[in-house]
Amino acid sequence: MTVKIDTLLHESRRFAPTPEFAAQTAATPHLYTDAQKDPATFWADQARNLLHWHKPFTKTLDWTNPPFAKWFEDGELNVAFNCLDRHVLAGNGDRVALYFEGEPGDSRSYTYAELTTEVKKAANVLLGLGVTAGDRVAVYLPMIPEAVISMLAVARIGAVHSVIFGGFSAESLRSRIDDANAVLVITADGGYRKGKISALKPAVDAALQTNDSSVRNVLVVKRTGQDVQWNDRDIWWSDAMETASPEHEAKAFPAENPLFILYTSGTTGAPKGILHTSGGYLTQNAFTHQNVFDLKPETDVYWCTADVGWITGHSYVVYGPLANGATQVLYEGTPDSPHTGRWWEIIEKYKVSILYTAPTAIRTFMKLGRQIPQKFDLSSLRVLGSVGEPINPEAWMWYREVIGSNLTPIVDTWWQTETGSIMVSALAGLTETKPGAAQVPVPGITIDVLDDDGQHVGHGNGGLLVVTQPWPAMLRGIWGDPERFKETYWDKFEGTSGAKDGPLYFAGDGARLDHDGDIWLLGRVDDVMNVSGHRLSTAEIESSLVAHSLTAEAAVVGAADETTGQAVVAFVVIKFSQAEIASHEDIVGILRAHVAQQIGAIARPRDIYIVDELPKTRSGKIMRRLLRDAAEGRDVGDVTTLADTMVMNTITAQMKK
Ligand code: PRX
Repeated sequence: MTVKIDTLLHESRRFAPTPEFAAQTAATPHLYTDAQKDPATFWADQARNLLHWHKPFTKTLDWTNPPFAKWFEDGELNVAFNCLDRHVLAGNGDRVALYFEGEPGDSRSYTYAELTTEVKKAANVLLGLGVTAGDRVAVYLPMIPEAVISMLAVARIGAVHSVIFGGFSAESLRSRIDDANAVLVITADGGYRKGKISALKPAVDAALQTNDSSVRNVLVVKRTGQDVQWNDRDIWWSDAMETASPEHEAKAFPAENPLFILYTSGTTGAPKGILHTSGGYLTQNAFTHQNVFDLKPETDVYWCTADVGWITGHSYVVYGPLANGATQVLYEGTPDSPHTGRWWEIIEKYKVSILYTAPTAIRTFMKLGRQIPQKFDLSSLRVLGSVGEPINPEAWMWYREVIGSNLTPIVDTWWQTETGSIMVSALAGLTETKPGAAQVPVPGITIDVLDDDGQHVGHGNGGLLVVTQPWPAMLRGIWGDPERFKETYWDKFEGTSGAKDGPLYFAGDGARLDHDGDIWLLGRVDDVMNVSGHRLSTAEIESSLVAHSLTAEAAVVGAADETTGQAVVAFVVIKFSQAEIASHEDIVGILRAHVAQQIGAIARPRDIYIVDELPKTRSGKIMRRLLRDAAEGRDVGDVTTLADTMVMNTITAQMKK
């Protein structure tokens, strides 16, 4: 007997955009009908409308050698010119591109004209250091304007950036530098995080210690002013910029010129260098950024809270917004420094109108309580976005009610480092939204939910999420490893009837189609449990636990069980005020019954552990793998990517109580 996933999630709430909102949106249902008629022509139109081509393309898509796609292959463009110069040439040079807010409270802003000049100077610095088109440049910086300037300068000269998140260790940095054979590293002395100075330069020094790396120079931005070790290869960014010429003409590069490599971890093995190229990537990011968020570049102030070290920072801090000429906020620090209202203070200060953030942040704010955001004027907000993991309906509703005054559309955007751009999402001005569902593919994207044999599962059923047709921002490969690229993403459905019209991209996520055909993401398939032959989603049980008034946060894992194959084990953080009222035993009983009642007896957790905190990576993802180790009584695995490496010790101690 299998429990159909459709019996496990019931969501009847619907939120249409207000009539005023719907009346002013540029997105129309024609986007969907046009795209359906002929996706390739649709994307060609977007590429022509949204970007400036130095040399127009005549070929749209070459899919003759799948899974290696070529988009707009004979066209030429300059990505940085599209993000900068053309806005200045169009008379928008005085528009603010970046409002930078440092964690200690320092701030500066750049107009499009100013940002263009900075990038031109930086491009000349790179050229002066012998960097040429196709070379790889590693960027290891805090969230400061120089990160954006560096990325665009690299793009401007046709080189390839590899941004490495500032929280990664010297070892991770070294392996990424080596894998890509980077010739230059751009870093800073340090940055500000959680009210403290966090050093960056020592990690670069350690990574390059053995002197046998491909790196010739290190450019160092002075951010904190702390003492740094100085080597022959090091150059201060400010010295180089001071003497650099502000004149630089952007040359055109082919549409398939590599733009960046970004490393992401797979289920096994070393991180994969995901390769993205220029024309298709920029097209889909400009299109989705405009239509998903209903962007009005003349009036909106947009803020995506992601770090540039992640794909969201690449696509929706740098390339999408700047290609669209948006005005945006760039914030260096963490949400709680120097106080827990910092984000809301920033929204009030800059009158942010579009906020794009992650469910984990929303749940943290929920835990702290609505009284904090309510102290600030958030009335400028008109669109809210979510990305990175399934957003449970409880958090969705809180986001809408408390942050969005019960008015703002919420767009839950599903995509991946590999997809490059948003793939599944509501469009703020058009879609009637459902709390917890990512809903529909964006126009021009074709998604399906299949069973293991490649058969469409049909409405009301769950299966595996696939992309059935090539898309402009798709990864072009794994750097240096075409075989791994094929195996990881394209082999899963090979030979099935579903793949008879061409290869299918396997995303690694479980999904469910509800009775309207809307898509619900159920988490990575490695996080989908199998209990007595029943398919259960960790996300779904977490969502149920979090929906209970006792719970602040929850993580669920499938732990090996002799009888049932896997058993549901939950780790729960209880709201402060509730912890005093009920005993742990009572709470566990209440929550087990609650899950059984909400989803079904099969989903009732075997064990619920009440803990103070969940193990999270620096980017806020819960590391369920470690919880699974703890739940299965094993030694806890590698904790180095955790934001707080001690948290697992506390959790295992609390499990014994
Ligand atoms: O499991 C999905 C989840 O994040 C994975 C991709 O992670 P990453 O490459 O780090 O990119 C994150 C930012 C785009 C996906 O395989 N994911 C991302 N967005 C959502 C999501 N899961 C559910 N709902 C989302 N909106």
